[in-house]
Amino acid sequence: SSPDLDKFFQVALELTRKGGQLVRTAFDQPASIVLTKSSDTDLVTETDQAVEKLLIAGLGKAFPDHKFIGEESAAAGQKYTLTDAPTWIIDPIDGTTNFVHRIPLVAICVGLTINKEPVVGIVYNPITNECFSAIKGRGAFKNGFPIHVSSTEDLPKAVFVSQLGSIRTPDIVKGFIDSFKSAMVDKNAHGHRAFGSAAINMVYVAQGSIDAYIEYGLHSWDIAAAVVICREAGATLLDPTGAAFDLMSRKVLVAGTEKLAREISGVFTHTDFEREGEE
Ligand code: IPD
Repeated sequence: SSPDLDKFFQVALELTRKGGQLVRTAFDQPASIVLTKSSDTDLVTETDQAVEKLLIAGLGKAFPDHKFIGEESAAAGQKYTLTDAPTWIIDPIDGTTNFVHRIPLVAICVGLTINKEPVVGIVYNPITNECFSAIKGRGAFKNGFPIHVSSTEDLPKAVFVSQLGSIRTPDIVKGFIDSFKSAMVDKNAHGHRAFGSAAINMVYVAQGSIDAYIEYGLHSWDIAAAVVICREAGATLLDPTGAAFDLMSRKVLVAGTEKLAREISGVFTHTDFEREGEE
């Protein structure tokens, strides 16, 4: 019920802000001194792990019957399935490459699903102090103020984001390049950007800064929290093929209007992935 969602949200928000202090402290430390590439990665992993631990410990204490899907737990080999139980889907730092390079576009993502549907979402950038949040049915907010998507319907008027993530198979790279050319040259899109964090790309659609975002090869923890924020801000979410959006399908297409989403779907070359989170 709705009062429960309020409680879930408040507890998650407080823990997310605490996690933000850890990210901010690490971000402020000079990344240069003795760090080689591999210890850079280790350092980030430590911050990731510390934030995920803090969130799971705090939420687990407050809500002992809730389940968790977390990026670092999954990386450590923990198997996960998405069930109907209330499940917190957590990315302690979305935008890890940005974090390593001290580009201030990073986000702690905390989403809650009930009956497999995202109902609470927090996307917090502790560096810029932007906190995006939503509870299903109550609108989307940035630092407490309502946000809404743009009304752009056509690619020539749209600034869109597409990104080549961490998967670089020849198929995916070719699809990315071909789609980029179609959108930018053949369809003459107004502009293209890529911010290096799936969650930030999504909340930028939610607040109308950009008009659409499409990416392949993501994980549920990159997008679960931002899904609620986008929906509550009036966005259209689709599978890039144009089918219904599926949180576990490892890809997303989100736009301010359905017309723009459908146009982009038609322009892009699609790649399929094995669904994640299955028994
Ligand atoms: C990554 C970011 C990035 C996207 C990658 C994701 P991470 O998440 O969202 O923007 O291109 O596909 O894996 O690893 O920084 O949490």
